Amino acid sequence: MLPEPTARLRFREMGAADLDAMAGLLGDPVVMKHYPSPKTREEAADWIAWNQRNYAEHNLGLWIVETLDGVFLGDCGLTWQVVDDVRELEVGYHLLPQHQGRGYATLAALACRALAEREHLAERLVAIIAPDNIPSQRVAERIGLPFDRATVSRSGLPVVVHAAALG
Ligand SMILES: CC(C)(COP(=O)(O)OP(=O)(O)OC[C@H]1O[C@@H](n2cnc3c(N)ncnc32)[C@H](O)[C@@H]1OP(=O)(O)O)[C@@H](O)C(=O)NCCC(=O)NCCS
Repeated sequence: MLPEPTARLRFREMGAADLDAMAGLLGDPVVMKHYPSPKTREEAADWIAWNQRNYAEHNLGLWIVETLDGVFLGDCGLTWQVVDDVRELEVGYHLLPQHQGRGYATLAALACRALAEREHLAERLVAIIAPDNIPSQRVAERIGLPFDRATVSRSGLPVVVHAAALG
């Protein structure tokens, strides 16, 4: 299962061959500014393996996002998360710095929301975001996920939750 391609980007599953690209993305201090630290190459490999397990077990995950001619932009997709003890479907996104500010994250996240609605994957869609990650909160709002509440993540970090019921 994959989100539909748009006029400017397409999705595909990530695999071991994407380790250089994913290590570059998740190891970038700008991309990981709102995470505890950038990921090592080994942690990026774990991230790919986690997504491969998600594809196999849940038929969803974070997918590679690329232009229609195959330029790597980042990842975006759907994962199951637990927040305040409730299992929720989350949309997530990470873009290389040079591809930010061009509308790709909003387009990709909208395609993921459309997939979640078309496949009736959940009753609600959420985005769990660091309180000072304004670009990510803007993407959530642009795809119709308004601020829901402030809370604490499972790892004890303050987060804001953006959420909406899926049609
Ligand atoms: C969160 C993140 C993906 C948002 O990326 P982004 O590029 O700001 O978001 P978009 O792709 O939607 O781009 C929107 C911007 O592009 C501009 N834009 C340019 N061309 C556009 C187009 N054709 N269509 C729409 N927007 C366009 C918009 O005006 C908007 O600018 P603004 O934010 O100044 O108003 C990015 O900041 C990122 O990767 N951050 C690091 C990882 C991260 O924190 N992920 C979220 C974890 S919760």
